[in-house]
Amino acid sequence: MTILIEQPHFGFKVDEKIPGDKKELVLDGGFVVPQTNAFGQTFRDYDAEGERQPGVESFYRINHICQTYDFVKRMREEYGKLNRVEMSIWECCELLNNVVDESDPDLDEPQIEHLLQTAEAIRKDYPNEDWLHLTGLIHDLGKVLLHPIFGELPQWAVVGDTFPVGCAFDESIVHHKYFKENPDYNNPVYNTKYGVYSEGCGLNNVMMSWGHDDYMYLVAKENKTTLPSAALFIIRYHSFYALHRSGAYRHLINEEDKENLKWLQIFNKYDLYSKSKVQIDVEKVKPYYTSLIEKYFPAKLKW
Ligand SMILES: [Fe+2]
Ligand SMILES: [Fe+2]
Repeated sequence: MTILIEQPHFGFKVDEKIPGDKKELVLDGGFVVPQTNAFGQTFRDYDAEGERQPGVESFYRINHICQTYDFVKRMREEYGKLNRVEMSIWECCELLNNVVDESDPDLDEPQIEHLLQTAEAIRKDYPNEDWLHLTGLIHDLGKVLLHPIFGELPQWAVVGDTFPVGCAFDESIVHHKYFKENPDYNNPVYNTKYGVYSEGCGLNNVMMSWGHDDYMYLVAKENKTTLPSAALFIIRYHSFYALHRSGAYRHLINEEDKENLKWLQIFNKYDLYSKSKVQIDVEKVKPYYTSLIEKYFPAKLKW
């Protein structure tokens, strides 16, 4: 890995990380959609009084207040330069090993486990779609934005559900009430149904709240991946639950988005429900994923 330049300072307070403690349970077997998450609750239940619930709610409060149109524009410009690090996809997987996503009520395992659990579960059910296996492996790599090399962005600027900025915040977005404190909420340019957009303009023309999804999309695209457009769509919108789960914002999508959305909905099942205490033997599956990385990406990428 080559570190190219020093990080600029954004003036953020660095959030405390939850250290991932190693779990013993090693299971071998097929993908079965479980009823409960690793904490014994239903998946994505943001009201359940679990050990992570208060942290998750305060995470969304600050996320909803700070993700404004101007903030997203600045972040896309800054991180779109891709002038921080040169590394391979696999090196990035390893870099993520100590990162824990505080917004996720279902998971407190190191990210590499989640990446491989997702990829392996897809591989089992869709053995011929190798692009989808690789998409599973890389979809969360943008979380490296939490790492000191990338300026150690705060959790609210990296993880959690994403949503369009520049138009009204839909009520289906988790903890919607906190948008009332977002400056865009009272700005007539941004607070109408269409805001700065138009009917069927296509998601490619819509700015999404800043986080690991859009960042990894930029990395893949700018490094000239040969992955199909459905893969890029999955990477870019996999946290856009208001669209792919609740059906909101359909007035902004175009025909290509509609096609890609079908793959995203398939993918989401694996992203969400493969989170468990099942551990994958990394060394055993590594050669397969390395071969996919070689097929679809250059050896070194700019990040
Ligand atoms: Fe993600
Ligand atoms: Fe994920």
